[in-house]
Amino acid sequence: MDGNGRWAKKKGLPRIAGHKVGADSLKEAVKTCAEAGVKHLTVYAFSTENWKRPKEEVGFLMTLFSQTLDREVAELEKNNVRLRFLGRLQDFSPELQKKMKAAMERLSKNTGLNLNVMVSYGGRAEIVDAILEMRKDEVPNDEINEETVGKYLYTKDVPDPDLLIRTASEMRVSNFLLWQIAYAEIYVTEVLWPDFRKKELLAAIVDYSKRERRFGKTSEQIK
Ligand code: IPE
Ligand code: MG
Repeated sequence: MDGNGRWAKKKGLPRIAGHKVGADSLKEAVKTCAEAGVKHLTVYAFSTENWKRPKEEVGFLMTLFSQTLDREVAELEKNNVRLRFLGRLQDFSPELQKKMKAAMERLSKNTGLNLNVMVSYGGRAEIVDAILEMRKDEVPNDEINEETVGKYLYTKDVPDPDLLIRTASEMRVSNFLLWQIAYAEIYVTEVLWPDFRKKELLAAIVDYSKRERRFGKTSEQIK
């Protein structure tokens, strides 16, 4: 969800104004995906690197997470959304951890859209955590394969993404789902996240629907 800062700057507003409107875009994305029958939506809300931003901005983002959760849980419940926060949750304040866990608990039985919110997340951190867990479980060498590694990632029960959307023209992966995006289709748009609404999201899905996914095979083989 990139481009909040640039959106605000363009309007002569403080960066935090971009984050605030960005939260509305997320709300709209969740609704659009639920309506379109998307099963999993995984969003990159806060990276392991984002902790290095100015203290005031990090503080504002924490308050925004907390307020957005308070405000939206009932609506998510109503829309049958199953919510999960994935990442190094232990990095957050005890209050925020409690709130995230309570929201996950409350929405855990829902059967509609799976909303995965990656927080204090890094693709490399996730792989390191998986290796540590595998060692803790003493997984024998002959059981270490791609499937096993997948089961030790935070996303163990989330299928690999089909479509990776990057807003704000960024032509890089920025440490997001490094393992899982091996064969994801990438869609880059110049639209900044606060302006990325239903119309833009549906355009990305339509673009994706025209792609030919070969997974390393030839075009003839997949016909
Ligand atoms: C993304 O927008 C929001 C978070 C990382 C939380 P940015 O804040 O990165 O926006 P730009 O890149 O400065 O425009
Ligand atoms: Mg950015």
